[in-house]
Amino acid sequence: MSKVTVVGAGNVGATVANVLAHKDIVNEVVLIDIKDDFARGKALDTWQQAPVDYYSTKVVGTGDYADTKNSDIVVITAGIPRKPGMSRDDLISTNAKIVVSVTKSILKYSKKPIFIIVSNPLDVMSYACLKACKLDPSRVIGMAGILDTARYRAFLATELNVSPKDIQAILMGGHGDTMVPLPRFTTVAGIPVTDMISKRSLDKIVKRTQGGGGELVKLMGTSAWYAPGAAAAQMVESIVKDDGRIFPCSAWLRGEYGVKDMFLGVPVQLGKEGVKKILKLKLNSEEKKLLRISSKAVGSVISDFQKMKLV
Ligand code: NAI
Ligand code: 2OP
Repeated sequence: MSKVTVVGAGNVGATVANVLAHKDIVNEVVLIDIKDDFARGKALDTWQQAPVDYYSTKVVGTGDYADTKNSDIVVITAGIPRKPGMSRDDLISTNAKIVVSVTKSILKYSKKPIFIIVSNPLDVMSYACLKACKLDPSRVIGMAGILDTARYRAFLATELNVSPKDIQAILMGGHGDTMVPLPRFTTVAGIPVTDMISKRSLDKIVKRTQGGGGELVKLMGTSAWYAPGAAAAQMVESIVKDDGRIFPCSAWLRGEYGVKDMFLGVPVQLGKEGVKKILKLKLNSEEKKLLRISSKAVGSVISDFQKMKLV
């Protein structure tokens, strides 16, 4: 059994802690925030839910990194979310400083945790964490693809009037408007989705998925948290259980798909050491082109991060 720290007790962080507590798969979840009483309150509320929902996971709130000592997994959700009209990339100047400082504070008390990054801009914040922690890149993973495919699967389930459970999908690229949903690799109970829906409807769903985060920001004035929190908790579960599950995650690439020295969404097998394996799909030329465009978009935000000289 493990200890998990969630940094940032805001909308996403508190949801990660709550979903994780319900799964009853780790001993302890530590929720830490600069607003320490806020973290204590969210943790206490989740602990008081335990007798009702029947779990034993200890949930502790704090502002002190000493309480994160010997964490096996650290989920970083600290940072500001988007407001209407902002892109994820607009968050870099604030969130990069936060992610770098949080990573360094964690390492004072935990030698070799696995980091799951949630803060945006996601692929670049994963890069910032890796450069700040200097651990093996397999131990830093970005959460985005599970959320983005969940949106895509949910939209397809509505359109086809089927259960979202029966829709399997993979999606690649950066966590931004250039993300690359892959209809050729999407099935409904094993049936290719392209046999079940017109190209026009599918194109519309792909577009809605690419703007899925923005759609919620527009509705709520801030970004989403239930599906993002559940997605990060699913990654923790898979790492803890070491059950060999495969998810789209942002992982460090060393030439896979022609991309090098950056984090980008790819199909990843998770395990107890973090990234166990990056799976290689046979993309066609159009898919390759879209992935190249997406990696260029992430690369340009990495340059902005490098200019900040934080690491
Ligand atoms: P929020 O504002 O509700 O929570 C953020 C929390 O971070 C606040 O409680 C704040 O006090 C805390 N914080 C700020 N600086 C800190 C520091 N140095 N140390 C510890 N805690 C600190 O925001 P929300 O909605 O939870 O979003 C968090 C981040 O996650 C945002 O950057 C957002 O864009 C990103 N996000 C990413 C998603 C993804 O798919 N990767 C999905 C949803 C959100
Ligand atoms: C989302 O996609 C804002 O990245 C966040 O909801």
